[in-house]
Amino acid sequence: TIYLGSFVHSTSLSELELADKGAIGVDETGVIAFVERAVENVEDVKAKNEGFTEANVVEVKDGFFFPGFIDTHTHASQHPNTGLFGQTTLLDWLQTYTFPMESSLSELSKAQTVYSNFVSRTLSHGTTTAAYYATIHVPTTNLLADICLSRGQRALVGRVCMNTDLSPEYYRDVSEEQALSDSRASIDYIRSIDPKGEIVQPIITPRFAPSCTSTCLSHLGALAKETGAHIQTHIAENKPEVVLVASLFPTSKSYTDVYDTAGLLTPKTILAHAVHLSGPEISTIKARGAKISHCPASNTAITSGCCPVRELLDEGLTIGLGTDVSGGFSPSILEECRQAIWVSRFRAMSSAENSKLSTEEVLYLATRGGAAVVGLEDRVGGFEVGKEWDAQMIVLNPVPEGGAPEGKFEGGVDVFGFETLEERVQKWVYSGDDRNTVAVWVRGRLVHRTGKYLA
Ligand code: GUN
Ligand code: FE
Repeated sequence: TIYLGSFVHSTSLSELELADKGAIGVDETGVIAFVERAVENVEDVKAKNEGFTEANVVEVKDGFFFPGFIDTHTHASQHPNTGLFGQTTLLDWLQTYTFPMESSLSELSKAQTVYSNFVSRTLSHGTTTAAYYATIHVPTTNLLADICLSRGQRALVGRVCMNTDLSPEYYRDVSEEQALSDSRASIDYIRSIDPKGEIVQPIITPRFAPSCTSTCLSHLGALAKETGAHIQTHIAENKPEVVLVASLFPTSKSYTDVYDTAGLLTPKTILAHAVHLSGPEISTIKARGAKISHCPASNTAITSGCCPVRELLDEGLTIGLGTDVSGGFSPSILEECRQAIWVSRFRAMSSAENSKLSTEEVLYLATRGGAAVVGLEDRVGGFEVGKEWDAQMIVLNPVPEGGAPEGKFEGGVDVFGFETLEERVQKWVYSGDDRNTVAVWVRGRLVHRTGKYLA
């Protein structure tokens, strides 16, 4: 297939490439075979590239191709609670909203409904890869992996571990052994359905330090070493949580040290939030090669704090964006881009003048940054020969007078035809939504589309 028309992707943290007349050739395995710019005639492109003379052409008009988004932290099991958080903050939010909902997902039929809807929803927002938390239940965690594999969404799927009395008795691991053996069972299952980890991979998931004993954490660290699996958890999200960790782990130097001692800080570790870290903690995380998921919508919604992303970037940490549903109120990484920009501007207005993030920077975090966080930077995140075609087709049109039952109307962005490609991208970031995402591919497979496109 040849994808014809404008394409946009990050070339560095601060730069986007805006190619007006592109042609990207994707072979039958979903890998990019060529990328051409300034194309005048697609027939010339076909003739020039071996194996593409008979290629199918998918053309984008009034828009552009953009790499699929990477959601580096979200809870599929909290999807029904999206938007429900009231006035709570982290520790009472968990008890009031989160544990009751997650525990109900032991039920296969409910999990089937919730998880398949969430995968549809995230795909519709252009998320081609997600790092998911499920629940403590192995059968339904495995079901989430089945759904991602069959729908074609790349995913890291984690069985949540928690064995302390922070969690209610009805929703808790009964022992350290159970946390370990259930984690192992889920890893084995996910590896059995996708042995090469092309689409789905397991991820070891201690919920966060307060919900695990130090023995439980160490067992999971050893399991990560033994299996080579990814790890995800939460860190320094809110101040009372940091205080709680200090009291629960009195011999540890810091929150970061709790994970480090347990062997949980590796280059395959995703740490969500990282709002309230000290300088030495940041240095340790960097030294271990662990990655950060920035979740600005959640951090504001449950009033956890403003993550100092500029400072973390300056320290050289690898950062992606996470929706953190349902601490976060949106399944959209595009929304998360805006929220990251807003939080950085609030920081700029209050204290840290040079903290403002640019459109280019947040789009980098949403794609290449996220790819590095989930360990897929060699495969996805941008458009180069040898990378896989994980992409979304973005279309922008004005709202038609009198509505548009069948007509052209895509999203909350009005464009009139005289905008440059750069202006279109800026407008999309600030006022676009899932209506603009009219088609989504993972490894060349069409995984989502809206009715009238590519019919
Ligand atoms: N910390 C421990 N569990 C959670 C969770 O489910 N969501 C968020 N945002 N933080 C957590
Ligand atoms: Fe979370």
